Amino acid sequence: MSDLTKIMLAADADGFRAAADIWASGGLVAFPTETVYGLGADARSDLAVAKIFEAKERPSFNPLIVHIDSIAAAQKLVVWSDAAERLAAAFWPGPLTLVLPIQPDAGISPLVTAGKDTLAVRMPAHPIAQALLTEFNGPVAAPSANPSGRISPTNPTHVAEGLGTRVDAILDGGACDVGVESTIVGLFDTPTLLRPGGLPHEALEAALGGPLATLGDHISTSDLTAPGQLASHYAPGAAVRLNATEANAGEVMLGFGDIAGDLTLSASGDLREAAANLFHHLHALDKMNASGIAVAPIPDHGLGLAINDRLTRAAAPREG
Ligand code: TXA
Ligand code: MG
Repeated sequence: MSDLTKIMLAADADGFRAAADIWASGGLVAFPTETVYGLGADARSDLAVAKIFEAKERPSFNPLIVHIDSIAAAQKLVVWSDAAERLAAAFWPGPLTLVLPIQPDAGISPLVTAGKDTLAVRMPAHPIAQALLTEFNGPVAAPSANPSGRISPTNPTHVAEGLGTRVDAILDGGACDVGVESTIVGLFDTPTLLRPGGLPHEALEAALGGPLATLGDHISTSDLTAPGQLASHYAPGAAVRLNATEANAGEVMLGFGDIAGDLTLSASGDLREAAANLFHHLHALDKMNASGIAVAPIPDHGLGLAINDRLTRAAAPREG
């Protein structure tokens, strides 16, 4: 860990300046957002963005989210709409990503969009992320700061363990509040939920005044898919077994509500607390070297939808 402490930056004016300088010279800085840690690079630089894919060993067809510090900055990158205005007014800054048509002169590296003519934009609420984006004064492409397919990082230690010195610096902002990635909405003819996440879709529907379509409604419209939604993702080393009421021999247990485990997402059945603990507990259980991780049932509403989405992918059959 000794060489890793060298790449930790404190969340103060010097740390923000050092991180922004690394971005400006084409390097990678991991930084906290309210959802998970992001692996950031200057979204305008092909070389810098290529380093993200290299560090994560991420399939290059999977596009990245661009982080900005204001609605005005987003409007320079994407073709804004009434629905975008309504959702941004209600939920930005916060755990919501909007996918909109990209502006022809946005200046974003085509590696970010993986060749699509749409762009995912998000204004994070975390004060450290905001301070850093304002200091840099440009668009920052950032996927979650984990090796591709593995558990997302919710603290700086997870980042250091997963990416090590493949990242130039990690801005230390402690643990993330929300704990699951942003909700992604595609704003085309029909607003469509592309990924359940940290903002419950019920809140989005209330703001839009109508139901969100889901990917199932658009199965033939390839533009509307979020290609990062691969079946096996967020995977710990150990096999994951869902809807378990107790651990089998050799397994460790991730509990919820009345079903207690070696670690429990929320003993009181609080879905917010469970989301915040999800990746943290999966990282910790994975280190116990069990043959598998048994997971108690989680209710399928509100943040439970995002939690079950991540758990289902963690449990999906792996390739190779
Ligand atoms: O909370 C978050 O969203 C975190 C923090 C760091 O902001 N970021 C994150 O990024 O989760 P990532 O790369 O792990 O997931 C981005 C998702 C992928 O599923 C990708 O396919 C989708 O966003 N995406 C990006 N651009 C898209 C586009 N133009 N159209 C459809 N989906 C897109
Ligand atoms: Mg990710």
